[in-house]
Amino acid sequence: MCGIVGYIGKNDTKKFLIDGLKELEYRGYDSAGIALLGDDGIETYKAVGKLINLEEKITQNCTNCFETPVGIGHTRWATHGKPTEINAHPHLGAYSFVVHNGIIENYKELKDELISQGIEFLSQTDTEVIVHLFEKFHKITNNTKEAFCKTIEALHGAYAILLITKADKDKIFFAKSGSPMIIGKSQNEIFFASSDAPLIGYASEVIYLEDGEFGEADQNGISFYSNNTTKWNKLQTSKQLAQKNGFRFFMEKEIYEQSEVASDCMLGRIKDNGISFDEISLDFFDDIRDIKICACGTSYHAGLTGSYLLQRLGNIRCEVEIASEFRYKEPILDKNTLFVVISQSGETADTLEALKMAKNSGLKTLAICNVDNSSITRVADVTLLTRAGIEKGVASTKAFTTQTLVLWMLSLYIGKIKNSINNNLLQNELRTLREVPRVLKIDSSIHEKCKRLSKRYLHGHGFFFIGRDVFYPLALEGALKLKEISYLHAEGYPAGEMKHGPIALADPELFTIALMPQNLLYDKIKSNVEELSARDSTICAISPLNFELADDFIKTNLCDHYMLEFFEMLVALQLLSQEISIRLGNDVDMPRNLAKSVTVE
Ligand code: M6R
Repeated sequence: MCGIVGYIGKNDTKKFLIDGLKELEYRGYDSAGIALLGDDGIETYKAVGKLINLEEKITQNCTNCFETPVGIGHTRWATHGKPTEINAHPHLGAYSFVVHNGIIENYKELKDELISQGIEFLSQTDTEVIVHLFEKFHKITNNTKEAFCKTIEALHGAYAILLITKADKDKIFFAKSGSPMIIGKSQNEIFFASSDAPLIGYASEVIYLEDGEFGEADQNGISFYSNNTTKWNKLQTSKQLAQKNGFRFFMEKEIYEQSEVASDCMLGRIKDNGISFDEISLDFFDDIRDIKICACGTSYHAGLTGSYLLQRLGNIRCEVEIASEFRYKEPILDKNTLFVVISQSGETADTLEALKMAKNSGLKTLAICNVDNSSITRVADVTLLTRAGIEKGVASTKAFTTQTLVLWMLSLYIGKIKNSINNNLLQNELRTLREVPRVLKIDSSIHEKCKRLSKRYLHGHGFFFIGRDVFYPLALEGALKLKEISYLHAEGYPAGEMKHGPIALADPELFTIALMPQNLLYDKIKSNVEELSARDSTICAISPLNFELADDFIKTNLCDHYMLEFFEMLVALQLLSQEISIRLGNDVDMPRNLAKSVTVE
């Protein structure tokens, strides 16, 4: 989730690049850089950490900067290589610079080939191959357009790319596939950015590039090398709206982003024969016999979901604990246990302290985290980044999705190295994982349905969210979403446990949200819901199969794997909570009494 900007024009290039990067800083902030191209050559500035460090560096070193009509900039969310200055973009060749958002999946093959041809690499990034490939093809063809086309042809993966070169110094070459890129124009100026926000106040019209579109731009306009569906749109003028990309709340935007971040999370990790995590060394699991997961809130729910998958697919014992409980129970820790912490922010005090306890007891530790360079990632032996991008809504949404995906991938990774998963099952799981981004694309009818249903569920004496197996932690997560933004009482419960007490509460004012997947224990959950219906509880069923006893019904799509149903139901639960909260007039993004990052005990 990096951010990129570009500029061609006669005004202040540096100012547009820096202002633009500020708007995109939410996409990543472990390092940043710009490159400026003018008659006197190329100047570049890079700095580790927040953008302010880059600004200071430019102010100190750029007192006599030349006037530059062309420039590109980048703010980084590390995927390949640590957040260092060398790994910061723009990446340079002998006479060209590139910025890139996304992941080049075949970078290793390309890099090996270029190295064998005598090219030296400076960084550990996947991005650097782009600039060397371009220069290699340019040497052969002596034609920048041809060289850029051949470069794009060679890349697999997701990218939004801007490239500048002294060989054609008035131009920016651009390409988009899978990562966002917008081109803006005003009189005699062309702008590039990863979202609308940097362009407001600068461009009057914009094009939202489609996947597969690439070409070049100069002061006279844009030329596409690909087929294109170029349509200029008027640019909205509200910054606030632009940051939310037109959505009413950050939470809503983040719910809708889940398909994109799921792709980012899996990029480069799913191979034909299994899962690959560059971060984990080959012998890391040699002496590991079981796993303990520790986390808080939504991250704890992801951990619980993961525990089912780790046992089922990884064939490894797994326990999950709430971090604040773990800390004070004087736990007995075993050196053959892998201690896994999960955290969106990487700063949650209870989770961090639990991690330190495990580390001090000599356990191997692994963090699943969204924020690189956060306290938790600095303590853990290994970190698997979730790559969800910055999550602004206090109610966590896309973080949960990516945490669950990482745990699912980890289960398959362990299953493979421990030889406990057969190839047919592994192949089916890999195929299903690849389906997740499609399933997370939100069908407007589900959102409409949640809006309509929200009217009905405002009053009553409480909600039970029920499910079985992985749908039990999903029920917990659904209930947490609802209570934190609507302030209504909600509980998540294992469906089979209702008859052991809570069913005493059943009456028409008790709302039951029943998660009824087709592919996992359908008959069991059906019986549990029938018991509640017989006692007059109001039932809202979420299922692909019609259920005649339901008072309300959210119909999900038929599919062949329970985890696809899991993600589709997750979206329905998130949208339902949001719509109820909106109807109650609450602040969806900043609910009362809560904070995004809980750095106190
Ligand atoms: O940053 P973390 O994932 O460690 O945060 C843990 C919880 O504070 C967090 O998940 C909280 O429960 C969210 N508000 C839930 O939406």
